[in-house]
Amino acid sequence: MANLIVYFSRKGENYWNGTIKDLAKGNTALAAEYIQKAVGGDLFEVQTVKEYAKDYYACIDEAQREQREGARPALKAYPGSIEGYDNIFVGYPNWWGTMPMAMFTFLEHFDWSGKKIVPFCTNEGSGMGSSERDLAKLCKGATICRGLSVHGAQVAQSEQKIADWARTSIKEGIR
Ligand SMILES: Cc1cc2nc3c(=O)[nH]c(=O)nc-3n(C[C@H](O)[C@H](O)[C@H](O)COP(=O)(O)O)c2cc1C
Repeated sequence: MANLIVYFSRKGENYWNGTIKDLAKGNTALAAEYIQKAVGGDLFEVQTVKEYAKDYYACIDEAQREQREGARPALKAYPGSIEGYDNIFVGYPNWWGTMPMAMFTFLEHFDWSGKKIVPFCTNEGSGMGSSERDLAKLCKGATICRGLSVHGAQVAQSEQKIADWARTSIKEGIR
């Protein structure tokens, strides 16, 4: 049973427990690494051709505009194939109540039918938002497992929780 851990994460200034902090590594990237450590598999980072602003408030505006416009930002690369994978962990920050539009671009690129999709989302309090519903629409024919929401500023203290959830999701996790 091969695992793919695909994620989007943004370095740079982010809102962190009520203040702005410059992050060398994004919260979701760290969570993705914990999952790989716990269950093994390949990591794939979704990267946009045009980088988002490092400045937090500028990025907030960019992301909101993209969502309003239903944008599909171009991506630098895709995995060659997803055929060999059974479990697909899909990680992202909550941006304006759902996944960043880059994840929409990514998910629309492949046929996910027959796959098990395991979502995880870091956020500053909004939880998974509508991302699981959006995933179900984008990944027709896939089984969407119960997602994990982690407070972004708590990821570094949540390795055990993330690892336990990842292992359980692979075994069962079907809604
Ligand atoms: C553009 C943008 C929009 C965001 N919107 C939300 C939101 O609607 N709800 C929320 O709880 N957090 C929101 N956040 C906070 C992020 O979800 C949170 O900091 C996350 O852990 C960042 O993950 P990353 O470091 O992997 O990019 C937003 C952050 C950004 C940059």
